[in-house]
Amino acid sequence: MDANGNPSGELPLSGGWDITAAEGFGFAGDMVTENLTPGGKLAGYSDGELFRVLRYGLNQDGDLLAFMPLLPYAQLSDADTEAIIAYLRSQPPVEQPVTTGDKLTFVGAVFYGAGIFGTPDPGTASVTAPPEGITAEYGQYVAKFYALRTTLNKILMKSCSRSIL
Ligand code: HEM
Repeated sequence: MDANGNPSGELPLSGGWDITAAEGFGFAGDMVTENLTPGGKLAGYSDGELFRVLRYGLNQDGDLLAFMPLLPYAQLSDADTEAIIAYLRSQPPVEQPVTTGDKLTFVGAVFYGAGIFGTPDPGTASVTAPPEGITAEYGQYVAKFYALRTTLNKILMKSCSRSIL
């Protein structure tokens, strides 16, 4: 994180980045990224619960999160989703003193409801990646998630909350 709480270009996975404030939507309230290392809330999530948050945007209590379902993770294959979970579990625990999660203002809730930030992806029970190879179909699948990664580096934030390609 830099002095303004924005990503520095590294991916420490420790969260604490207030997306709305960083993107000029501070009036809408806060959407603060979660600590993805085992040092935060994810330690209390089972693998199945983490799968559900990525596929359906539902937290541990089954409540629909605000920002997570705007990301394209619902279109990530079952196997790739499981691999991400295994990767996160393998990371060293890091503490994040910043309070994570959403706190939208009334105006933010109205904006969200109007789809200004994007539309939640409802997700489907099972997703299979296209066969790996030099094809447009596989390239589109990979590009979608490469764009998401660059989003983490705060380059394509606006694409992230809408369709990536
Ligand atoms: C491997 C990827 C990810 C995993 C496993 C993950 C997991 C989670 C979980 C479990 C929560 C809810 C924590 C709770 O309150 O119980 C959460 C919330 C959140 N995550 Fe993610 N996350 C991931 C990627 C991202 C990315 C890439 C972004 C933003 C670019 C992001 C932004 C947020 C935000 C803003 C919240 C607060 C609630 C909301 O607005 O949806 N997450 N995440």
